[in-house]
Amino acid sequence: MKGVPRYTSYPTAPHFHDGISAQKHIKWLKELDEDTSLSLYFHIPYCKQLCWFCGCHTTIINSYNSVSKYIELLKQEVHMIAPLVQHLSVKHIHFGGGSPTILSPIDFSKFMELISEQFNLSDIAEIALEMDPRTLDMDKVISYKESGVTRASLGVQDFDTKVQEAINRVQDYGLVEKVVNNLRLSNIKALNIDLIYGLPYQTIETTISTIERSLSLDPDRISLFGYAHVPWMKQHQKLVPEDALPTIEEREILSELSRKLILEAGYTAIGIDHFAKADDELSIAASSNKLRRNFQGYTTDNADALIGFGVSSISSLPQGYLQNTAKNVDYASNIKNKKLPIARGVELSTDDKQRRDIIMSLMCNYQVKINADLYAPELEKLQPFIDSGDVTFSDGIIKTSSLSNNKLRLIASVFDVYLQNSPHRYSLAV
Ligand SMILES: C[S@@+](CC[C@H](N)C(=O)[O-])C[C@H]1O[C@@H](n2cnc3c(N)ncnc32)[C@H](O)[C@@H]1O
Ligand code: SF4
Repeated sequence: MKGVPRYTSYPTAPHFHDGISAQKHIKWLKELDEDTSLSLYFHIPYCKQLCWFCGCHTTIINSYNSVSKYIELLKQEVHMIAPLVQHLSVKHIHFGGGSPTILSPIDFSKFMELISEQFNLSDIAEIALEMDPRTLDMDKVISYKESGVTRASLGVQDFDTKVQEAINRVQDYGLVEKVVNNLRLSNIKALNIDLIYGLPYQTIETTISTIERSLSLDPDRISLFGYAHVPWMKQHQKLVPEDALPTIEEREILSELSRKLILEAGYTAIGIDHFAKADDELSIAASSNKLRRNFQGYTTDNADALIGFGVSSISSLPQGYLQNTAKNVDYASNIKNKKLPIARGVELSTDDKQRRDIIMSLMCNYQVKINADLYAPELEKLQPFIDSGDVTFSDGIIKTSSLSNNKLRLIASVFDVYLQNSPHRYSLAV
């Protein structure tokens, strides 16, 4: 089975290079049209305890001191960027991590005050936060509500104790249920739950139980990620007991079972790994071909430009992608020297933009119209998928069934010119 990217961008991050600088970021931001809508992403790269499966960019800390210092640096980064885009309308704000819920209520409220002073939020549609249920309390929930947070994304992963212990992520159902109730009581009603299949000791029984418990919490959306086991990149994943990991065949069974149970409960399948209630904006966007995909996954966020703040965050501007340094020390020294901490990126060529549109359309809408003459070699590579019935091609339209979601990455990868000669190893597409 071949490893392929998840296509949260195209070209994908391993193909960014260090020829893209802070000056480029300033130039590209200044070039944005007056009617450009914005999305802001803030990365909080800290957690209290390491989950051994974790593939995110985070550092484990046991004192709040690092967080206090980091939030001050983040504020300075905001002060450097905001004057360049103050006139543009912000539609979406997303806090990711790491664990944004590690921020104290007072730090979060003050940070959001700064954001509303520095940016134009008069047309804001969503403020979303990734939440680790173990680090939430009522004071934090109240500060989120008061700061205008509308969506909570809860990291659940699995409810089985043996699985939780094997990944060093113990949180019982009662804790998650309490958090869900508190969020709803505080009127933060848009809820996502993150689940993972392919974790150690997962079986058909544990999967049924985890899905049933998750459904009983009545989330609007569920993300069902395949465990990306990449110990050559994330050393701590070596702590995950490899001999207890499901085989490729078992992963497929667990993925299909989870999918079936979620669909039977009335959810709509969105792209490769999301589900949403039929009346949720995400389902509505999917049925009207308005679904988008960004670094956080599937979204209704249709802003023209995404600006990333914080360590390792990625900005997606019409001209290209730019990534902040992933090293905490370099981030701090850049910001202290009043320099934007851009480390790498890529400027999009016309060919990149066309291929990106094709790949994103396949990943979001399961179909795309192409010029068959321009993409003859790619169509040849698609032939095995056409022969197996996973793909149809007629009148210039490539269509793939939403039932073959795990194959979607492979199908989309046919249009990825960077992948062919890439030495980079990706996680399996199951
Ligand atoms: C930044 S975390 C969410 C917030 C918070 N840190 C937490 O874990 O509750 C984003 C999500 O990425 C997913 N994730 C992390 N590492 C992963 C991996 N190696 N493979 C698949 N999904 C992963 C988990 O579902 C996790 O909830
Ligand atoms: S999964 Fe979430 S809580 Fe766990 S280490 Fe990763 S970012 Fe932190």
